[in-house]
Amino acid sequence: MHGFSAFLFAAFGCTLAIAEPQWNASYAEKTEALSLKGDVTRGEAAFVICQGCHRVGALGRADGSYPRLAGQHTSVLIKQLTDVRSGRRSNAKMLPFADHSALSVQDIADIAAFLQQLPVPADQGQGSGGDLALGFKLYAKDCVTCHGERGEGKADQFYPRLSGQHYRYLLRENQLIRDGGRRNANPKMADAIRHYSDEDLAAVADYISRLPLAPAR
Ligand code: HEC
Ligand code: HEC
Repeated sequence: MHGFSAFLFAAFGCTLAIAEPQWNASYAEKTEALSLKGDVTRGEAAFVICQGCHRVGALGRADGSYPRLAGQHTSVLIKQLTDVRSGRRSNAKMLPFADHSALSVQDIADIAAFLQQLPVPADQGQGSGGDLALGFKLYAKDCVTCHGERGEGKADQFYPRLSGQHYRYLLRENQLIRDGGRRNANPKMADAIRHYSDEDLAAVADYISRLPLAPAR
């Protein structure tokens, strides 16, 4: 019995040891990219390969298939890109365009600098408007401490800006995070949303999709 649990322990420890170097690599790369000075002009040129999906101006698509990236914090963009490269966040479609053979760490810093300063027009996709009172109540109770009253997020904590994002993308990410499909999500964020019904998720995403846009940088 004793020997068997020791064996289980060793097997479990081994799994952790396999998972860790990958995650460490993502932290190291994130730290390196954050320390580099991004160049907006170089970033604009490097972003050309991303436009096929994220569109010119990084405006994304209202059907939610591709998120808007314009106006997002550099820290958030860098974290999400390095998480995708290390496998912490799954995105098989995008990986060939974002992995180590396609982008250097300097490219990541440049692209993030370019995206952060892009204008965010108020033409994002919105929900039905059916239950905004519920959306407001939930947002104030469970989301505002991190994402802010205007959905502006918090750059130094890696909390994404949510205002100006398409409703359908917000809803999909809410579902993924609630159901454990977005593995890199902050566990506190996942806890905040764990007991939400589908109707709650839709109401809060609809409310967010109508937040007034943060001032341009
Ligand atoms: C083949 C299509 C495709 C290409 C090309 C592509 N992406 Fe993406 N990207 C996606 C999809 C799909 C998602 C959303 C994934 C999800 O739903 O979780 C995404 C998400 C992202 C996110 C996370 C946004 C967020 O709000 O969390 C960032 C950052 C990003 N892409 C940057 C880039 C950059 C930079 C490039 C070019 C180097 C690029 N993408 C090229 C499809 C693409
Ligand atoms: C403890 C802080 C925290 C709280 C509370 C929180 N979030 Fe988040 N949220 C995050 C972080 C951090 C991320 C980015 C995922 C990651 O990499 O950790 C995120 C990501 C998201 C995303 C995806 C954004 C994108 O661009 O991909 C949505 C949508 C979102 N949160 C909505 C909500 C809603 C709705 C609530 C309230 C029910 C909420 N969050 C509560 C921290 C938080």
